[in-house]
Amino acid sequence: MSNTGEQFKNIIAHSKEYGFIFPSSEIYDGLGAVYDYGQFGVELKNNIKNYWWKSMVQLHENIVGIDSAIFMHPTVWKASGHVDAFNDPLVDNKDSKKRYRADVLIEDYIAKIEGKIKKEVDKATKRFGDSFDEKQFRETNQRVLDNQKKIEDIEQKLKTFLEESDLESLKKLIEDLGIACPISGSKNWTDVRQFNLMFSTQMGSVSDDTDVIYLRPETAQGIYVNFLNVQKTGRMKIPFGIAQIGKAFRNEIVARQFIFRMREFEQMEMQFFIKPGDDKKWYEYWKEQRIKWHHALGIPKSKYRFHDHLKMAHYANAASDIEFEFPFGFKELEGIHSRTDFDLKAHEEHSNKKLQYFDAEENKNYVPYVVETSIGLDRMFLSVLSSSFEKEQLEGGNTRDVLHFPPALAPIKVAVLPLTKKDGLPDKARSIMKQLMLKHNCHYEEKDSIGKRYRRQDAIGTPYCITIDHETLEKDTVTLRNRDTMEQERISIAEMEKIVDEKVSMNNLLNQLSV
Ligand code: GAP
Repeated sequence: MSNTGEQFKNIIAHSKEYGFIFPSSEIYDGLGAVYDYGQFGVELKNNIKNYWWKSMVQLHENIVGIDSAIFMHPTVWKASGHVDAFNDPLVDNKDSKKRYRADVLIEDYIAKIEGKIKKEVDKATKRFGDSFDEKQFRETNQRVLDNQKKIEDIEQKLKTFLEESDLESLKKLIEDLGIACPISGSKNWTDVRQFNLMFSTQMGSVSDDTDVIYLRPETAQGIYVNFLNVQKTGRMKIPFGIAQIGKAFRNEIVARQFIFRMREFEQMEMQFFIKPGDDKKWYEYWKEQRIKWHHALGIPKSKYRFHDHLKMAHYANAASDIEFEFPFGFKELEGIHSRTDFDLKAHEEHSNKKLQYFDAEENKNYVPYVVETSIGLDRMFLSVLSSSFEKEQLEGGNTRDVLHFPPALAPIKVAVLPLTKKDGLPDKARSIMKQLMLKHNCHYEEKDSIGKRYRRQDAIGTPYCITIDHETLEKDTVTLRNRDTMEQERISIAEMEKIVDEKVSMNNLLNQLSV
């Protein structure tokens, strides 16, 4: 297994062992691509939600939140285009019987060519050192140019075939490129077929077609159908946004890679309503805001990149992904989509209700345009978890498992640990715990050696441990241990609360997002 494969396996095992994520219905051998969050997982998830919600709703005077129902009138999904166009092009390998998304097979092939280019660049960087001009190298090296041309040709074909839903040509492209099944190694492919990703169920007791309803595949439509309700009752003026966090469901075919692609997941979406014609400006604005939100976490910036879409979803005129370097490579973490007036107009047509805004400055009615930011909460969770996990080599040949979470997102902020169970130390520790737990999620523990307790806190990503020892009783001081450096400092109990507040506060993140 490759190093990155090994790393990913360790992360999955760690997240189960320490109560972050469990397979759903595990005693019945699980349910494909469905997961439950455990005691520490739910805290991390809530903190991510909180960071997103505060950055959207609290920091923007012109953004408000809602919580709409998962079940919606079935015509919503006809109007939105999901009944007709929310499809994946699928292809099966006849030997392994494994099913793949045709476009993903081709994109993986492109990624391999990109890998070759990167190797050439890395080799040249080593050879030429400081004097290396990467731009010039990319523009003149023949092997790089040939590979770049290959990529552009394939991308162009892929874009055309996807846009035209030309499934025969998609299959031919897979064959022409000689793409083999990663499992069987064979090139024995079925035809490419379209597959709708929505789950359906029935409402009421009579089972005919009129009762078929869908589990929402995105939260965005709950915002569109409430656009006027919120605009009128909140007296909102364009530009303004509506944010929502909630569950979404997709019958993913290629559901793998742990919580990266799930059948039941959560989205954090914000729809920003703007004047027609202002779409480019706001699209760029939200791209910048969203990458800033990610960078504020302190995860290396090199782990993020933008990827502009080749194939637009049926509702968008421009779309870009923020990709993250997961243990299995760069993949989509968030989407920023310029959705034009597609959705509101479609709902006007299907509902026969006007969904327009009266612009007092312009003295006219119009259907607003929309720029959307859409991030999967579970993918965000995986990005934080995977970039925080380390099997650290320590002096003396020991190792420790540590989760270097950004302190504001850590499930437990402070562990309160009496050095021993005797001499009144637990009583003193309890009184400190009582003080801190009013503000922060804290953990009290007195069992096992202090070293073992530190390790357990490292493994769940607790940024600080406060240890109560005999000096505490004499001088009213405690030790504050830093998870990442493992260094300890002595601080007075009088200052303790303030010091902890400053270190773990969500404001450390929010302050970086100047609006
Ligand atoms: N409203 C627009 C929309 O839903 P999308 O690109 O299909 O756009 C947005 O999804 C985000 O939702 C993705 O960037 C990803 O983070 C998350 N997402 C989509 N499908 C997912 C799945 N099956 N499992 C987990 N997260 C998913």
